[in-house]
Amino acid sequence: AFAESICASSIIVKRRRSMRYSRIVGTGGYLPEKVLTNHDLERMVDTSDEWIRSRTGITQRHIAADHELASDLALHASRKAMEAAGIKAEEIDLIIVATTTPDMIFPSTACILQDKLGAGNCPAFDVQAVCSGFVYALATADMFIRAGRCRNALVVGSEVYSRILDWSDRSTCVLFGDGAGAVVLSQSDRPGILSSHLHADGKHSKILAVPGSICDGKVQGKPFLIMEGNTVFKFAVKVLEEVVHEALAENNLQASDIDWLIPHQANIRIIQSTAKKLGMPMEKVVVTVDKHGNTSAASIPLALDAAVRDGRIKSGQHVLMEGVGGGFTWGAVLLRW
Ligand code: UT7
Repeated sequence: AFAESICASSIIVKRRRSMRYSRIVGTGGYLPEKVLTNHDLERMVDTSDEWIRSRTGITQRHIAADHELASDLALHASRKAMEAAGIKAEEIDLIIVATTTPDMIFPSTACILQDKLGAGNCPAFDVQAVCSGFVYALATADMFIRAGRCRNALVVGSEVYSRILDWSDRSTCVLFGDGAGAVVLSQSDRPGILSSHLHADGKHSKILAVPGSICDGKVQGKPFLIMEGNTVFKFAVKVLEEVVHEALAENNLQASDIDWLIPHQANIRIIQSTAKKLGMPMEKVVVTVDKHGNTSAASIPLALDAAVRDGRIKSGQHVLMEGVGGGFTWGAVLLRW
């Protein structure tokens, strides 16, 4: 019996030793230089700073220069994340870019980024899950690392929504902005990412879409973002509450155990609603929507980078990221910093 128990405990030790986790070891963000304020928008469409601030919490957003593509924004953010992580381009062995506004139909923005970084011959691909894109990409990279298929993944959210907005449509053009956020996710023997939760329901594909496509060299359908704002709002509030509770339950944690909520930055009212349903004070919620607008897949890594760099997020703390977007897609990642 003694020998058996020694044997059993050595198996447990071995299993523990071979446990692989992923940890974020560096973050970076990039916002284009040009700032478009609500007052600028007042001169473009029938809107007001008061309406935009009270309905969304947004005061300004950044707009990419004509020559800047999603891969350029991604490049700036990635370099900062890699510098923070102390990782060189040749050490990256997986690149995932979450984007809804790729440089071109193909190759993927991840492949273009790989070339710009000089990152060599590693797998590189885009994830298309709109505003949930970063959560999807991070969850995917975590699974690659835990499966032992890579050691250092570069995970990026990069968007140039200014290119897919109808600038004469006041109900959508005031909401979005351009930007990129990146993290380096590395293999570790301690977590890191505790769990990830991804969902999609294609039945709701029409309430938020860019329904255009290219055929025979011509654009078919509308190549601009359309949205049933109110329906999206209600859907977002409902599924975000569900997914944050799913993440807490899986880890036997209470909302009070979460040190930082990093929500997708779409609308301050959606963010406040999730915090309220969790019973979480807004002091524990990272908010950047006022300064960036909705940067879709870039919004969570941009908010994370802001809170890491200003020292709010500290080692050992629990961080809960959540997002929702077109598809409809939604998800959450819970991690220990
Ligand atoms: O990343 C995920 C994707 N997006 C989102 O999460 C967005 C979710 N939805 C929202 O954030 C909100 O629904 C909006 C901010 C888009 C709109 O807020 P709302 O409180 O739901 O307003 P509403 O759509 O019910 O519109 C109220 C009024 C309408 O006028 P009438 O019909 O009541 O006369 C709109 O025409 O506000 C009008 N309106 C505007 N007025 C001034 C819509 N856009 C504007 C505007 N400026 N920019």
